[in-house]
Amino acid sequence: MSYVVNHSRLNKWVHEVAEMCQPDSIYWCDGTKEEYDRLMSEAVASGAATPVSKRPNSFLFRSDPSDVARVEDRTYISTTRKEDAGPTNNWIAPDELKAKLTELSTGCMRGRTMYVIPFSMGPLDSPMAKIGIEITDSRYVVCNMHIMTRVGTKVIETLGTDGEFTPCLHSVGAPLAEGEKDVPWPCAPMEKKYICHFPEENLIWSFGSGYGGNALLGKKCFALRIASAQAKREGWMAEHMLILRLESPEGKRYHVAAAFPSACGKTNLAMVIPTIEGWKAECIGDDISWMKIGPDGRLYAINPESGFFGVAPGTSHSSNPAAMDTLDENIIFTNCALTDDGDIWWEGIGTDAPDHLIDWKGNDWSPADKTPAAHPNARFTAPAGQCPVICPDWEAPEGVPIDIFVFGGRRTSLVPLLMEAYSWDHGVLLGATASSETTAANIGAVGNVRRDPFAMTPFCGYNMGDYFAHWLAMGERLGDKAPRIFYVNWFRKDAQGHWMWPGFGDNSRALKWMCDRLEGKVGARETAIGRLPHKEDLDLAGLEDYAQYIDQLLEVDVEGWKSELPGIISYMDRFGDRLPERIKEQLQALQERLG
Ligand code: GTP
Ligand code: SPV
Ligand code: MN
Repeated sequence: MSYVVNHSRLNKWVHEVAEMCQPDSIYWCDGTKEEYDRLMSEAVASGAATPVSKRPNSFLFRSDPSDVARVEDRTYISTTRKEDAGPTNNWIAPDELKAKLTELSTGCMRGRTMYVIPFSMGPLDSPMAKIGIEITDSRYVVCNMHIMTRVGTKVIETLGTDGEFTPCLHSVGAPLAEGEKDVPWPCAPMEKKYICHFPEENLIWSFGSGYGGNALLGKKCFALRIASAQAKREGWMAEHMLILRLESPEGKRYHVAAAFPSACGKTNLAMVIPTIEGWKAECIGDDISWMKIGPDGRLYAINPESGFFGVAPGTSHSSNPAAMDTLDENIIFTNCALTDDGDIWWEGIGTDAPDHLIDWKGNDWSPADKTPAAHPNARFTAPAGQCPVICPDWEAPEGVPIDIFVFGGRRTSLVPLLMEAYSWDHGVLLGATASSETTAANIGAVGNVRRDPFAMTPFCGYNMGDYFAHWLAMGERLGDKAPRIFYVNWFRKDAQGHWMWPGFGDNSRALKWMCDRLEGKVGARETAIGRLPHKEDLDLAGLEDYAQYIDQLLEVDVEGWKSELPGIISYMDRFGDRLPERIKEQLQALQERLG
């Protein structure tokens, strides 16, 4: 170990974990480039990683075919009382769950190195930053954490002798017997995977998976599930939101935070390059927003992460040029396909598939094959600072003041392109009743409509009814400084299955309408579900190909919404007496407006 740790609680925890997991050795990470390079060359030597020779310092990992996404069914919020986890979370009592995890973890790191990763969520000089320590037996996790969080000895210095940290214990759950050769992607079978959170003591314990949010514990586990519970207790917000800065032709700035479910367009909107004259956008974050009320009474947001763990398929120079330009070097690719000349490829990258590829499972692949060459949840891990449209203030310790909240989801029908809430409470109803088709970001069926309040269904670390109440309470504290609330749907399709809206850069047209609303420049049509744009107020110049669809995109299908209502009401009924009165009133009002 190359530095000294004088934090007794930390040392004690690391010691106890080592006693239980029985690794061959313990290694404390220092976050340096030398460390990253060394671990990567070990990964290459072991066969776990393949250099992507066309892109300097970039590597491809192929996961086990069973370990390709988050596992919501195996994710737990473990509170003393079941009702504190609420009806949207899996729950096991802390004692029982810890006993199970202890049994699974005993000896689970045999034959492996145990890495201790000191990391900060948020810039270390930010009053909103929080420290975590991840223990893991996965080299892949260490390298990804280097990119996604701020890892290093500065974190240990900041902790001092008794600073606060969130312990995050991770194991792939695949001990090696004496002399046993490792596999490229070790993990445990599904029934042994447990992604566990103990919000009452800020503890994370994840067993059996090496993929994404299951394993990079700073992200969903800490920055959302644990942090949302902390935020509720302490009066701030931890949300599944991108953050961007918009600048109007007049040079006026607006900061937008938008919540869409996994694989529903956050990274794309975060890096949007507006297609409308004179408008500029810059990216602050693409997945998570921590927000606190500042001294001036406005809501300030930081991005707690320092990298992007982005969906690869569908990312191209036409859909998301800024993301593509972020991927030139220093990237970890996971489950993408590999070309014969040493580059990556995925479906929707914008070039035809070459005649031969190595697919995400490591097999020869040709365009005649029916299966995708890249896994639908293939991802890139990229340093945020490399993004060509990163905002110069993306690491500002005080954050940026949010003007606009956007909620949304992936709905091929019914939900209009764009609307504004009538009030804060109505906006909270829009967030609470958000719905979306499920995607490949979670293991399970894809394409089923589910209710996904605030895009937080898999990420809220406490009772979702109490979470609604927290949103209402924040609105009260913010008063007339509260951000205005909008709802969007980029994903409508016509009867033939064609997109009815161009999406991507053209989503800036919806953002412009929101800014125009804030400035009082445009009116709106009052409908049963919210305030919708007058068609003539939308900047649609150059969208002739979509002109046939615009009326439909801005239509409110009252009968369709009436048939949606029973589902919404029965969903809300699950929260029982945890459902705030003000949500019930908003639901009632919606029902009356629908007639
Ligand atoms: P997570 O990282 O899982 O949280 O996903 P995300 O919300 O950041 O989604 P992302 O921006 O990566 O988009 C996921 C998929 O949706 C990609 O295949 C995109 O190409 C596609 N997508 C994003 N924005 C749009 C859009 O405006 N229109 C259409 N049709 N597709 C979009
Ligand atoms: C998501 O699923 O919302 C992601 C990817 O951002 S993961 O980090 O795997 O959760
Ligand atoms: Mn996400």
